[in-house]
Amino acid sequence: MKILKYLRLPALLVVAFLINVFAVERDMLTDPPKGKTIAEKIDSVLAKMTLEEKIGQLTLFTSDWDVTGPTVRENYKADIKSGRVGAIFNAHTAAFNRELQRLAVEETRLGIPLLFGYDVIHGYKTIFPVPLGESASWDLAAIEQSARVAAVEASAAGLHWTFAPMVDIARDPRWGRIVEGSGEDTYLSSVIAAARVKGFQGNNLAAVNTLAACVKHYAAYGAAQAGRDYHTVDMSERVLREVYLPPFKAAKDAGVRTFMTSFNELDGVPASANKFLLTDILRKEWGFDGFVVTDYTSMNEMVQHGTSANLKDAGEQSINAGVDMDMQGAVFYNHLAQSVKEGKVSVKTIDEAVRRVLRIKFELGLFDDPYRYSNEERERKLIMSTEHQDIARDVSRKSIVLLKNERQILPLNKSIGTLAVVGPLADNKSELIGSWSAAGDYTRSVSLLEGIKAKIGANTSILHVKGCDIEGNDRSGFEAALVAAAKADAVVLAIGEKAQMSGEAASRTSIELPGLQQELVNVLAATGKPLVVVLMNGRPLAIPELHDKANAILETWFLGTQAGNAIADVLFGDYNPSGKLPVTFPRNLGQVPIFYNMKNTGRPMNPNDKYTSKYIDSPNTPLYPFGYGLSYTTFKYDAPAVSKKSFSAGEQVKVSVTITNTGSRDGEEVVQLYVRDLVGSVTRPVKELKDFRKIMLRAGEKKEVVFTLAADQLKFYNQQMKWVAEPGEFDVMVGGNSAEVQSVRITLK
Ligand code: NOJ
Repeated sequence: MKILKYLRLPALLVVAFLINVFAVERDMLTDPPKGKTIAEKIDSVLAKMTLEEKIGQLTLFTSDWDVTGPTVRENYKADIKSGRVGAIFNAHTAAFNRELQRLAVEETRLGIPLLFGYDVIHGYKTIFPVPLGESASWDLAAIEQSARVAAVEASAAGLHWTFAPMVDIARDPRWGRIVEGSGEDTYLSSVIAAARVKGFQGNNLAAVNTLAACVKHYAAYGAAQAGRDYHTVDMSERVLREVYLPPFKAAKDAGVRTFMTSFNELDGVPASANKFLLTDILRKEWGFDGFVVTDYTSMNEMVQHGTSANLKDAGEQSINAGVDMDMQGAVFYNHLAQSVKEGKVSVKTIDEAVRRVLRIKFELGLFDDPYRYSNEERERKLIMSTEHQDIARDVSRKSIVLLKNERQILPLNKSIGTLAVVGPLADNKSELIGSWSAAGDYTRSVSLLEGIKAKIGANTSILHVKGCDIEGNDRSGFEAALVAAAKADAVVLAIGEKAQMSGEAASRTSIELPGLQQELVNVLAATGKPLVVVLMNGRPLAIPELHDKANAILETWFLGTQAGNAIADVLFGDYNPSGKLPVTFPRNLGQVPIFYNMKNTGRPMNPNDKYTSKYIDSPNTPLYPFGYGLSYTTFKYDAPAVSKKSFSAGEQVKVSVTITNTGSRDGEEVVQLYVRDLVGSVTRPVKELKDFRKIMLRAGEKKEVVFTLAADQLKFYNQQMKWVAEPGEFDVMVGGNSAEVQSVRITLK
């Protein structure tokens, strides 16, 4: 026993030594980062970090979340504990994320908190319309509010960062990801991008109910050749800057804290190593000070692109071009330290990237309390709250576009005797929340059938028949659909696409209604019963035959959790539809790409002259133009007037127009302002949206809308690639869609 006595002192010394080392090594926990400003605090953290820990902050890995519940693969846990990963995505719920955060905060040497990201694209659990659909509302306040609700729910579930908004201009409906953006127009997409950023981030990133936003996919991803996802992109710098970049700039100006690169190459250089995009434009021209994350393994894919010999090479190209964080590729994780040793990447470059990442963690308040976003009480109280359902229902009905309404067949009477509710999407809950629906639980969504049942009077009977599937060749349900139609006073037919027919890796070479759905329309139309078609889809469809056969058509996209209630509100007239298309609907795929702001060409279409720009087998015009959408009431536009016919660069022109609600119902109208520059040093589009106003008019009411137009709004890149407004004549056009406008000419002196 004596020996123990002699061992006691050295043992105590060892313990004291260990405690001391521990205190030094883990002083982040007991001793918060020093400094007054965030920059000073970042420096105090950076000064303690090893190269490996720095690279950890530049590494983002997914969790191993699956159907049986959340698990993180053991190696990710080990990586978190060793400080080799600074951010995790696809991990959510307060409890789960708290436990992961605990590993980072309590078990790593420096205790730097993790950043939790997730694709909260159109809601977290309360699902809102898919972004393309929501854009059809042209209601910026509603769009901002939907992003706000998404942030409130997601931040209560332990999340800090959403991979949204997606702002890729998309002019090819084959491309499945058209559903995630705001359509074809640069101006509309820009103002929506800003609204979404404000909604997610609020005005204080440190508040517990806000998320850092991530604008994506930078850049030009929507111009994938032939609409095939991940395909090559090639365009002039002028088109890039005038059409594709402004929504990103708008997001930056709205304060977005992170950017995500895109999968595509641009002019031969993959976006994830594109110095022109990431450093020259983003950092130097725009002064962006947040961080840039790659898309999922897009750094690794540079080997397949053929611009990197190996992964180490890819990592060097990326970080030197301006990327800060590697999503899922483990390229930085495996190779960056070696690149630093070889002098291919400087420590200064690494430090800059780490600073940017730490800055966002500080701004989110994670160094003050790493667990502040994981709050079960908030999670229980806020997620799927009644208030959120009401907001979702309202945004959803605002997103519906009335494409056709023959003989005012809509709205339906709530006391209609018998209503046949037909179609593969009539009693469906899973499709209507759309793709990229985060933690959305489709079992809690309201189907169209449920929405209709909740709306109709006690004396109305519903006959529900599926009719056919979305895909396939099975006609066996047609007979029952015909029997139901024969007994009914009207038919509501819900058809369209599956949710997974749009979104990532879901491009189509046909944009018609899949399967036998058009045939079902045709047989039902032949019964002569009033036929109302409710479309659910994630892209513009080519539906000229449907347009001919149906009496009324509602474009409802995928509206989310409250879809059924929102559609029923419109079907039965509790809400007068006010949506307008954010994207052109072609007559056929052969017209694609087709968008309203095309150029005139040297041989503009003349039906009497063969040698002009047209098709021999199709009109040039689309089925439904950009900005189009009907109402249950009618609006009359007076000719627009301008405050001055000619103006100089420092002045503004007021463009005023009086709109009258000439129908018998109250309704909202989106008044759209377009401009055409008649002669430029380079060719200009035949019209470009410059502004819009969504107004409410009571039946019979008349309102004047006044827009202001300044030379700044007339700027474009001239032949020398200078951003200028050129003196000359402009047509200013006002109307309720891009094809029906009245114009007035003004001159910029
Ligand atoms: C790949 C997608 O392109 C991107 O939009 C998404 O945010 C990431 N995966 C993460 O899920």
